[in-house]
Amino acid sequence: MTTVLRLTPDRPERDLIASAAACLRQGGLVAFPTETVYGLGVAAMDAPAVRRLFAAKGRPADDPLIVHVADRGALGPLVAVCPPIVDALAARFWPGPLTLVLRRSALVPDEVTAGLDTVAVRVPAHPVARALLAAAGIPVAAPSANLFSRPSPTQAAHVLEDLDGRIDMVLDGGPTQVGVESTVLDLSGDGPQVLRPGAITLEMLRELLPHVRLRGDAPADGPQRSPGLLLRHYSPRAPLTLYEGAPEAVIARMRTDVETARAEGRRVGVLVPDDDVAALAARLYATLREFDSAGVDEIFARLPPATDGLSAAVADRLRRAAAGRVVRCV
Ligand code: TXA
Ligand code: MG
Repeated sequence: MTTVLRLTPDRPERDLIASAAACLRQGGLVAFPTETVYGLGVAAMDAPAVRRLFAAKGRPADDPLIVHVADRGALGPLVAVCPPIVDALAARFWPGPLTLVLRRSALVPDEVTAGLDTVAVRVPAHPVARALLAAAGIPVAAPSANLFSRPSPTQAAHVLEDLDGRIDMVLDGGPTQVGVESTVLDLSGDGPQVLRPGAITLEMLRELLPHVRLRGDAPADGPQRSPGLLLRHYSPRAPLTLYEGAPEAVIARMRTDVETARAEGRRVGVLVPDDDVAALAARLYATLREFDSAGVDEIFARLPPATDGLSAAVADRLRRAAAGRVVRCV
């Protein structure tokens, strides 16, 4: 049985938070809203509980988890080395949608890091997440609360769609604000690298880290080394085809392909971004899930016009969802 607790998003009820925190401390699986997407939380230092989480999600064990903490001060026991830049990044971007990959301490279970010598950490900003972490008083490992390979959940209903009966509790704090997962910044190697673009953009990071770069290996180049960044990660059920290139050419080609598909009796979903990329990001995964529940056979999508800022994150997720089905129009 999965218990659903509905909370007031900006002033979460203390008694409900306390029961969710107790559930976490006892090794339970608790889904909760963050500012990006819903996470599925588990006590990070409880290895058997972490194994149950992997089983509930159907997630391969070689895909490491992000550890969520209440504040910068809680990093101490988790990391072996904390480069000085962490304080500046934390002061500027935490709480918020930035995940840092750092050398890990021996205390972090291998189950969490997939055996890597690094650990990913973040301080989420959503009031429900903050209240839960403060009340639990322990680090909480939390992947997105979806079944493996489904789009990340941005509403409690999405979590239940995938995980009802497989987890202990869902904290319903309404729809999430950002809509795409946190920026993952790797500080463990030679130079700072963004492994996953998100709402803390490359441009924002450059103010503190002038040499930060986006990891170069584009999805088109084949499977990536970090298992969590597999192409299939963000797939909706219906195949998604992505159109790139000059806007006029893209629109013409999409129209032709949509008409052909409809003429052949296929149900088609069309995703055409407008100029408000924040609104697009917030709705992206819900739209992909709606297409699936509407029984759409095929999805046609176009990239946002800009390539900077949050557009980079949206383009990244659409490319992954397309899993190589990209039509370049000239
Ligand atoms: O916004 C988010 O980050 C959400 C919310 C719930 O916080 N969480 C999330 O978790 O997206 P998940 O598990 O769906 O994605 C975690 C990503 C994966 O791409 C994983 O490979 C990467 O972080 N990651 C985790 N630990 C890592 C490590 N030690 N080194 C490199 N990448 C790591
Ligand atoms: Mg995920």
